[in-house]
Amino acid sequence: MKFYKDQPGVWCLNRGWKFKETDCKDLPCGIRHDDIYDYTKAGGAKGPAELSFDDSDWKPVSLPHDWVTGKSFDAQASPNHGYKKRGTGWYRLKFRLSEEDRNQQILLEFEGLSSKAFIYINGTLCKRQFYGYNSFCVDITDMVCFAPAVNLLAVRIEADAWEGWWYEGAGIYRNVWMVKKSPVHIAYQGVYVKPEQQADGTWKLDVETEVENSFGQEREMKLEAALYLDGNKKQELPCVSGTVPGYERIRYHQSIIVKQADIWNTENPVLYEVRSVCSVTNGEQAAGPNEITSPDTSFESQDYLNTRFGFRTIRLDADTGFWLNGENMKLKGFCCHQDHAGTGVAVPYALKEYRIRLLKKLGANAYRCAHNPDPEILDICDRLGMLVMEENRTFSSDEDTLAQVRGIIRNARNHPSVILYSIFNEEPLQGTLRGGRMAGRLRRAVHEMDSTRPVLGAFNGGYLEEEGAALSLDAVGINYNPMRYDEFHRKFPNIPLVGSETASAYMVRGEYENDEERHKIASYDESCAPWGDTHRDAWRWIMERQFVAGGFIWTGFDYRGEPTPFEWPSVATFFGTYDSCGFPKEACYLYQAFWTDEPMVHLAAPWGQGSMPGEPVKVLIISNCQEVEITVNGRLVQRKPADRYQPELIHVPYENGNLKAVGFRDGKPVAEHTLTAARKAFALRIETSGTQLRGDGLDALVVNVCAVDEEGNVVSDADQTVSFELSGGAELIGTGNGDPNSHEPDTAPYRKLFHGYAQAVIRNCGLDTVYIRVTAEGLKEDSVSLPVRRIPHIPYVEEAKDTVVEGWRMYHQLLDRRPDTLFSADVNDRNSFEPIEFHGRPQSEFTGKLNKFGVYQTRLSLTENHGNRYLYFPDIKGQVWVYLNDEQAAERVLQTLGAMKVEIPAAFGKTGICTVVIRNQNTENREAGICAPVILSEDNGLTPEE
Ligand code: GAL
Repeated sequence: MKFYKDQPGVWCLNRGWKFKETDCKDLPCGIRHDDIYDYTKAGGAKGPAELSFDDSDWKPVSLPHDWVTGKSFDAQASPNHGYKKRGTGWYRLKFRLSEEDRNQQILLEFEGLSSKAFIYINGTLCKRQFYGYNSFCVDITDMVCFAPAVNLLAVRIEADAWEGWWYEGAGIYRNVWMVKKSPVHIAYQGVYVKPEQQADGTWKLDVETEVENSFGQEREMKLEAALYLDGNKKQELPCVSGTVPGYERIRYHQSIIVKQADIWNTENPVLYEVRSVCSVTNGEQAAGPNEITSPDTSFESQDYLNTRFGFRTIRLDADTGFWLNGENMKLKGFCCHQDHAGTGVAVPYALKEYRIRLLKKLGANAYRCAHNPDPEILDICDRLGMLVMEENRTFSSDEDTLAQVRGIIRNARNHPSVILYSIFNEEPLQGTLRGGRMAGRLRRAVHEMDSTRPVLGAFNGGYLEEEGAALSLDAVGINYNPMRYDEFHRKFPNIPLVGSETASAYMVRGEYENDEERHKIASYDESCAPWGDTHRDAWRWIMERQFVAGGFIWTGFDYRGEPTPFEWPSVATFFGTYDSCGFPKEACYLYQAFWTDEPMVHLAAPWGQGSMPGEPVKVLIISNCQEVEITVNGRLVQRKPADRYQPELIHVPYENGNLKAVGFRDGKPVAEHTLTAARKAFALRIETSGTQLRGDGLDALVVNVCAVDEEGNVVSDADQTVSFELSGGAELIGTGNGDPNSHEPDTAPYRKLFHGYAQAVIRNCGLDTVYIRVTAEGLKEDSVSLPVRRIPHIPYVEEAKDTVVEGWRMYHQLLDRRPDTLFSADVNDRNSFEPIEFHGRPQSEFTGKLNKFGVYQTRLSLTENHGNRYLYFPDIKGQVWVYLNDEQAAERVLQTLGAMKVEIPAAFGKTGICTVVIRNQNTENREAGICAPVILSEDNGLTPEE
């Protein structure tokens, strides 16, 4: 995620896209010589990669976008992908760059696409990205054109196969940015800030900066940097200057000693910034240091970048586990996939933050990106104080994967939250010689970029093998099998150990009975995968061993796909501590008891949910207090010592009324929880994750709805269908209810309540106050209005809507007379008629040649979708005759400048030859030609430009 003010020239590319799920190829429609000849040239890719391709029936979409959410569940599709079929799709975006952009470096930054992407700019395939979880950048500087010409960015995405064994979605599911940079600038992810604590407690702050020259001319530059905290300058780094040869990158180092720094930790995650400014001096040295917050106009150009980081130390020890800032700390972590209810993998930043805040609430201090990196997660964890195990997806040491892994590290290494790099998860080669070698090379690649974090793998075997990966890495992560922790530690007492994955326990929110047939699992922490453990057992193994640095629970949230332990009709997992919407299952309270010290007590029981008086109700008493007292309607049932790691299970005969627990510490009541039998559902109640939206088009908000009785108690068996009505500056992007067996559509504006709850996720799309109304049959409706705050933000690249006529060629010589019979280029003749594009200037071969005639030609293809048909020449100089096939369609002889519009008669049909003859009659500056792209206009009015 880019933040406003961190660097200049950033544009958001999330809007204005057209999308279609289609396996259309980039091939020419024919296989004749002329088709192939053109196709094999730069800019020659066809189909949707071609600017003039007709996408008028494609769907307009905004990013992040996961096209799978729009599909229905299908029993024939893969359970791993949550029974939704994927496929191949294309995205297209047309845009203009201004004349001022001509001397800028133009970068596209993709935060992630699922899964295999082919990225074309103006018909040139400029990137193949086969790693669907990695962010990357594409330098399109040389391939773009400038206004009035239109650029086409086309992305083909193949999402048929599996890169993971879970729901992967499909599409451009994270943000895309365009970054325009001055010719000499700080390279993409070019700043590495490395704080190292010294023996005397001070910090050595090393800043490594890569400066890049995107054009051919050698330049002098000056690099300044300063340390900031909360917007206040604390210290300057020494300024460096140097020569950057054309098309090169040079690495510079700056360093200072920081005597005293505020420390980043999980409670108080203090973030500093290094602000770097690269100024091109063009030989002239500026006098004295600059105030780097305001650009200095005496320079030819300036580029700046703010890099956030934190001062903190980490250590992973084979005997004592993990240390943060010299303090021993158990990693209390959750493994998380990236999808969320309703939105699939297209999860906005604000929603990711919502989820991580939920995990923190349970006392978690660590997050495992399982099994893939995500740059936004790192930003959020930096800000919230969450430690991260960042994980690479593809295990291989081939050249391409090594480059991808370097990219992951480059992106992660400034983040104080990142404490561990995992290079694989459960790889069959992990215990072999091959696996050991691959791991060794990957570790080396990581340490070349960042030697400050340990590199591990998440093993499900092979870790006791001496030739395997365990001995090639800095630490070992063991997935499951906690009974082998001791064995490992005995055999390799010097290798630090992390419980990289554990638990895989099952429950369904709101269920208190197992029902194999209906795919329901009770909430008493009694069920887990055959390879897993119940929550309490999993945590006990870790807690009781100091040498185990901590554990990552599988999983923080239910996720789509691999619907273990069931299959169809279940479409999601049952592992989550929270359900897929983030509604708490009873497991949440277990972790609250294990991990937090704020007194809490919680009763997990279906009290008042259909039991007959006297019938025993199974109750799990969860508490981190010393004693818990249980009463029914004020009558004592029991008062007993409590063990936070071993909740007690009791049976209480049902009675109408309240079941209450009071937690005691030192004999004093410090926490309580009451279960009350709810009455009939009476009304809906909305709770939103915030009270306003930021009007930047990126913000999102969670709208939770529950059914309550007249006293305001949530009615756990309510299952009415809730409709969400939304108006103002937000759009609905998904709905959910946490039911792993639900087949309701993800993107429809309605959802059944599941055990009383449902959810919608909305995304900002304008500035009008947002009004949300929820209704359900028989229930009182609720509504809320949320103001949208106007904030300065990164601008959006505007979509160019024109259909541009391409394929123009110009006769290789000017003529003395207007040709009386129109000649046509031989299809295979690429030399008499030369390819030509119109970029804002007249053809220079006309200049000064008064009275000469030039001939231009193209094959025009019209489709059904273009209703009224006009050819529009926004800027054409000279006398003009336009022919459609052999018929003259227009002429302009009196005027020699300006725009021209030509009607295409019905008789022309769908395709034919368009010939334009121009005579240079422009006596003023003796220029002539077609100066701007020719546009196919659909209406008979004015084009958007006029
Ligand atoms: C692990 C695997 C996870 C998930 C989990 C389910 O073996 O690493 O991705 O499949 O099992 O229990």
